[in-house]
Amino acid sequence: MPRRIALLDPHTINQIAAGEVVERPSSVVKELLENAIDAGATRIEIRCDGAGRTRIRVTDNGAGMTPEDAEMSLKRHATSKIRAAGDLHRVTSLGFRGEAIPSIAAVSRFMLSTAEKDGARHKIGVEFGEIVSSETVAGPRGTEIVVEDLFANTPARLKFLKSDTTEAAQIAEVVGKYAVAFPDVAVSLSFGSQAVITTSGTDDLLEALGHVWGVDLARALAEIDMTVAGIRVRGFVGPPHVNKPSRSHQVFFVNGRPVRSKTLFASADASYRSLTPERRHAIIAVNLFMDPADVDINVSPMKTEIKFQREGAAFDALRLAIKSGLLEHGLMPSAAPSLSFATEQMGSVGLLASAPSEVVTDLFKERPLDASAPARFPFLELLEGLQVLGQVMNTFIVASTQRGIAIIDQHVAHERVLYEYLCGLRGGARWRCRTCFRLSRSNLRGVLLWHYQSG
Ligand SMILES: Nc1ncnc2c1ncn2[C@@H]1O[C@H](COP(=O)(O)OP(=O)(O)OP(=O)(O)O)[C@@H](O)[C@H]1O
Ligand SMILES: [Mg+2]
Repeated sequence: MPRRIALLDPHTINQIAAGEVVERPSSVVKELLENAIDAGATRIEIRCDGAGRTRIRVTDNGAGMTPEDAEMSLKRHATSKIRAAGDLHRVTSLGFRGEAIPSIAAVSRFMLSTAEKDGARHKIGVEFGEIVSSETVAGPRGTEIVVEDLFANTPARLKFLKSDTTEAAQIAEVVGKYAVAFPDVAVSLSFGSQAVITTSGTDDLLEALGHVWGVDLARALAEIDMTVAGIRVRGFVGPPHVNKPSRSHQVFFVNGRPVRSKTLFASADASYRSLTPERRHAIIAVNLFMDPADVDINVSPMKTEIKFQREGAAFDALRLAIKSGLLEHGLMPSAAPSLSFATEQMGSVGLLASAPSEVVTDLFKERPLDASAPARFPFLELLEGLQVLGQVMNTFIVASTQRGIAIIDQHVAHERVLYEYLCGLRGGARWRCRTCFRLSRSNLRGVLLWHYQSG
């Protein structure tokens, strides 16, 4: 006999939804962080124990909730952010599905305490979907959520988690993205008593990038701000020679929402094609501002996938903005599209070369150069003790340096010297040439050493 059809009970529905929304500790952190940002918080503290498995605590100073809303927030499809399907086309908040809180509460020991005003807070305890306590406690305006023993009731999910190091890294990556997307919010993340990320909330994107990615890396970035076909592209991009083996340092926001978009990844790759070695990824942090009606954010429960109405326009806007930003800041030689730079891991020792990128990468493989060194700019230091060993195919200069070897495209270097010289003549160039070495022997045309200097 076939079984009869029946509606699932809310507890089972929440368990199923949790499977989609709460994949791992970092998804909990993401959802709680989004809620705090949506609540207008200017300060958000995240503390994780046991890489988020044992305990995640998110505290914000946002708008808080009334006791009734706090109870309501635990229900599925309960949201303050949209009211009807039509609102989906103009969502400006990060959340809108009304399922994060009930999903998290279904797979953890969950505690919510919240207040709209300083004084009395409403505090609710939930154990794996069942409300177990409700009381009033003293506390300030804002919201605190504590999630303990995540997935203790879903052993399959628990087993699927990776090592503490991996889970903690995921959390740090998520928090880093939001901290950069919202530089006006002071975000802090700690594992146990160890602080990992602390941004100041001064609304300075470059400063936030410095906090999250390190000052050396932030210093190498160039600002871009360009509007193409109604899409404003604003943010920072790295020079081609600073690159990573993964997309960990490519963050895209659409109207402030961190997104993963194949279109934007493809556009970034196209912008840096032939500038960065194969399978290496440039550093990018940009926000695309466009009419909310031009993006569909209701594609997946995680809300990180998006669809552009005008796919081609988004692709072109980003590519044009990056290309012209690189040109404007002298990070790309306009006359020599084949110029490639490479670094062994991020920014340790770099080779300045226009040799095919595989050649450069292979050189690094054979002789890894001081990989532990921090990112260093300018090349001046990379090329310390430069001694020309010879010239290949009337095109490349091969030289030894104190740190390794360098291959220099003499033609590109020459163009570069002229370019910097002209920039200097024009005045006010943001990135100025510091030192130009001319090796006038035989037919060596020029070796360039230059220094990024902001301001
Ligand atoms: N930190 C917070 N401060 C104030 N209100 C909050 C906070 N967290 C949640 N809320 C309230 O609880 C509601 C439910 O939160 P929940 O995350 O489940 O859904 P959502 O944010 O509306 O949508 P989504 O499921 O897409 O995240 C929110 O709409 C909001 O009104
Ligand atoms: Mg939410």
